[in-house]
Amino acid sequence: MTDPFIRPYRTTDRADVAEICVRTAAAGGDARGIYSDDLLMPDVYALPYVDHSPDLAWVVEHHGRASGYIISVADTQAFADWWARAWTPGFVARHPAVGPATGRNPDYTEAQLLYDGTDPQRMVRGLRHDELTTHPAHLHIDLLPELQRRGLGARLIDTLRTALAERAVPGVHLGYAAENTAARLFYDRYGFKELPSSTPHSPLLGIATT
Ligand SMILES: CC(C)(COP(=O)(O)OP(=O)(O)OC[C@H]1O[C@@H](n2cnc3c(N)ncnc32)[C@H](O)[C@@H]1OP(=O)(O)O)[C@@H](O)C(=O)NCCC(=O)NCCS
Repeated sequence: MTDPFIRPYRTTDRADVAEICVRTAAAGGDARGIYSDDLLMPDVYALPYVDHSPDLAWVVEHHGRASGYIISVADTQAFADWWARAWTPGFVARHPAVGPATGRNPDYTEAQLLYDGTDPQRMVRGLRHDELTTHPAHLHIDLLPELQRRGLGARLIDTLRTALAERAVPGVHLGYAAENTAARLFYDRYGFKELPSSTPHSPLLGIATT
């Protein structure tokens, strides 16, 4: 049995990435069954990233399949523009209607999630100060439960920061669900700081790449 290891993303990891996303999307916990389609969350928070920037994505391979990832884009504004052109049409075709409310996640309704899938400028609007200049990249990181607390999250962030620094990207930011207190402890411990645009409801953290 081999230990989990980090390697660059491959297009054959795409379905695993979608599954990791939905299994960690309820403030770090399993979101399967919360929305009418388990692919809705990945279609907003994972798949556009690996399709747009497969070279800025890494997975943790464990027992022959991807079981964790870090995914990112170097330029959030360019990504939002690409999304409007290249992602929204397919997204709308795949998710044409609001599904029945499950009532299991009143903080993030299906209608809101569907709207977010067609509103990529939300990623830019939230940055009201100069974060697009200081921290133009952003990331998502998720590990299945069996891979958590083994130091892999910190190593994935190290890997991404090195790659971004090589591209002369000065900083990276992220948003997280305010109720995900475990993730906040991880980011604090790693060295992320709250950004000027952060709010209690939509916390934003950032770190320089070097
Ligand atoms: C959050 C996450 C990416 C952290 O990655 P990880 O590999 O589990 O974290 P690491 O093992 O690198 O942890 C480094 C340090 O961060 C802190 N930390 C990490 N997870 C923590 C937790 N659940 N509670 C408290 N502190 C935590 C600890 O100080 C830890 O060091 P220690 O284990 O020596 O005490 C991972 O746990 C995860 O994917 N969780 C579920 C999905 C999620 O919440 N993603 C983030 C969405 S914004």
